[in-house]
Amino acid sequence: MNQMNCDISAVLFDEYQIQTRIRELGLEISNSYKNSTPVMIGILKGGFIFLADLVRSITIPVEVDFLAISSYGTKTSSSGVVKIRKDIDIDITGRDVIVVEDIVDTGLSLAYIKDYIWQHKPSSLKTCVLLDKPDAHKTDVTFDYIGYSIKNEFVVGYGLDFAEKYRNLPFIGILKEELYKC
Ligand code: XMP
Ligand code: MG
Repeated sequence: MNQMNCDISAVLFDEYQIQTRIRELGLEISNSYKNSTPVMIGILKGGFIFLADLVRSITIPVEVDFLAISSYGTKTSSSGVVKIRKDIDIDITGRDVIVVEDIVDTGLSLAYIKDYIWQHKPSSLKTCVLLDKPDAHKTDVTFDYIGYSIKNEFVVGYGLDFAEKYRNLPFIGILKEELYKC
């Protein structure tokens, strides 16, 4: 067993479950955008693996861009104060845009991102999130495509980190509480 696996109390979704759900999302998105080439904007860093797998399950042409943000808060919860660290490169005015995010916790980051993207005047904006923690929402943010709803637990792996670690775990797992709670 590798060293990172010992820090995980339970596996929530294994590689097979994740890929199965992503294929379903890819099919749904492909069917909804038959006459369009949407711009898929991955939110860095957490969304990088999800975006990479999602675009490969989509059968229509898409363009890919990235937006890097940081929010200030504790190591395991965000305050919603967001700073743009890397802006998008593609001109999305008049385009169909799909924002691809790893996880919605309070919802404050996604609410900020949606506002920010709307300022660029896309013709449509949808959001695709892999994980949602409905019990943690602090705003009534909505999204269009969702992988899984989960309990209010801190999860890592498949792009998600704790202090920059665990992003490379191929599954999504619950981090042992003693590793982040004093
Ligand atoms: P908000 O609260 O703004 O936060 O919806 C979204 C961002 O917070 C991070 N986040 C997590 N990261 N495991 C993580 O690795 C989690 O359980 C978790 N919950 C929130 C993440 O960066 C997300 O984009
Ligand atoms: Mg994120």
